Amino acid sequence: MIEDGETLTIERMTEAHLPEVMPIEREVFAPGWSEAAFRNDLRNPSALYLNLRLNGKLVAYAGMWLVIDEAHITNVAVKPEYRGRNFAKRLIHRLLSIARERGCVKAFLEVRVSNTPAQKLYEKFGFRPVAVRAKYYDNVEDALIMWLEGLDTPEYGEVLQAIEREFRKG
Ligand SMILES: CC(C)(COP(=O)(O)OP(=O)(O)OC[C@H]1O[C@@H](n2cnc3c(N)ncnc32)[C@H](O)[C@@H]1OP(=O)(O)O)[C@@H](O)C(=O)NCCC(=O)NCCS
Repeated sequence: MIEDGETLTIERMTEAHLPEVMPIEREVFAPGWSEAAFRNDLRNPSALYLNLRLNGKLVAYAGMWLVIDEAHITNVAVKPEYRGRNFAKRLIHRLLSIARERGCVKAFLEVRVSNTPAQKLYEKFGFRPVAVRAKYYDNVEDALIMWLEGLDTPEYGEVLQAIEREFRKG
């Protein structure tokens, strides 16, 4: 959902972007990852983070680790006032497309059992719950582990194309 006159760009996150990323991380996850943790990940050759900018302003980001043939989605955040505009969907779409290009065959992630919006988002991409990790968050809340198989198949390519068509509608 892009209005007339709006420009949307997706770019690779670097350490230079952290002054824009950290306020969103703190706002969304209160407090979320530290700047040192982000810096560490951005220096990790297995990690890949993307920023989404609307009219040049950073409003969302997401990242993953690519380990052999598996993609592990680590982080997705959209500034609250920009939610419901397909921005997370665009970021996950781009991450999974890159993972496919790099030869990944499966993907997984952990999500809070209470986080229905995120679970619905991942279900759109074919992630399915496979297990629960007890007290994973702050030793209190359980994590749902969600898996996606067949990332490398032509059928999954069609899933990604169908999602991409939604972006062209608006
Ligand atoms: C979860 C989050 C990333 C979604 O971002 P978003 O840009 O609003 O999501 P999108 O507009 O791209 O929506 C994509 C899909 O997610 C699901 N979704 C998003 N918000 C939802 C909500 N409030 N309730 C139910 N489903 C929701 C829908 O399936 C939606 O697809 P649809 O519009 O075709 O139905 C955002 O709410 C957020 O930053 N939350 C806090 C951080 C977080 O939970 N991160 C994930 C941690 S694992």
